[in-house]
Amino acid sequence: MFAVVLVGGFGTRLRPLTAHTPKQMLPICGVPMIEWVVSHLRDHGVREVGLALGYRPDAFLNAYPEGQIADVPYRIAVEAEALGTAGAIRFAAQEMQLEDTFLVLNGDVLTDLDVSALVEFHVQHEAEATIALQTVSDPSRFGVVTTTDSGQVEEFIEKPLLGKSPSNNINAGTYVMNRSVVDRIPEGRPVSVERETFPEMAEAQTLYAMESNTYWLDTGTPEQFLEANLDVLQGRRKNKPAMPVASIHTTSKVEDSVIGTASHIDAEATVKQSVLFNDCHICRGATIIDSVLADEVYVGEGTRLEGCVIGSNQRIEAGVTLIGQTEPES
Ligand code: GTP
Repeated sequence: MFAVVLVGGFGTRLRPLTAHTPKQMLPICGVPMIEWVVSHLRDHGVREVGLALGYRPDAFLNAYPEGQIADVPYRIAVEAEALGTAGAIRFAAQEMQLEDTFLVLNGDVLTDLDVSALVEFHVQHEAEATIALQTVSDPSRFGVVTTTDSGQVEEFIEKPLLGKSPSNNINAGTYVMNRSVVDRIPEGRPVSVERETFPEMAEAQTLYAMESNTYWLDTGTPEQFLEANLDVLQGRRKNKPAMPVASIHTTSKVEDSVIGTASHIDAEATVKQSVLFNDCHICRGATIIDSVLADEVYVGEGTRLEGCVIGSNQRIEAGVTLIGQTEPES
């Protein structure tokens, strides 16, 4: 089956990490997020993917010049301006001349979802589109879905008020769609699949949803991005890639952290619950906690960073304390 992966968003909540790099090209334990997504699809028999691109398409094309991601051939559709999630699906389906049922994925979700079971559910229920659901304790940040016993979607409510949600099942960001869904999406303006297309289809009683409870994480915020890295590091995902090679002084203390290739941690420095991309330098006695540092960040002697997101090429001088700060990329 063909899968359209939505990767065209600006990723504003992950700035400055996304100031020059699309969210799906950020590394999760050294491997770009898009490779995690596509290799999971490959394991479920997906033979080709279509990237629905908008923001920085060059980042993907430069990283995968051979036309393959995780051994899966890819095609692209590049939007001239952001079309929203449904607009992007329509545009990609037209550009890629899709005729049959296809998969759609939010490219910033990491999951061990049984994609094959979702496709089977879709066929068995003769649905027009089928959404994968995930049960969460606080659904207020997500699209909440209620279904009948047979799995037909009754209501699709985007971001209900805290404590007012009718269900804990949320839209997990993986869909199976018949080609007819594309014709429901208006042309010429941005359209959201979550706010417009799915509520309309729920009304038309052609939308189904399959419950699932597996590993699932939306990586849209710095906290979730950090969590995604630590989940791989601590074995909560099925695969663990080879870790990057960094230089870590024996008297430094590194705990629950990912240290990118060619990064240096000097003597008596401490790094905890943090992700450092490549070529970072943490000087003697510095402390980094709950933070994400992009490529080539320099942290001076004795400096303390806690809950910070630092863009690439930044230099944080010696003896400084930064708590909960976001430094713009240069
Ligand atoms: P924020 O700006 O932080 O909200 O992030 P985002 O732009 O990625 O938006 P969001 O997390 O809601 O997007 C969910 C998925 O859809 C992500 O994989 C985005 O890359 C993708 N996406 C969002 N809007 C568009 C769009 O207009 N076009 C395309 N092709 N993809 C989109």
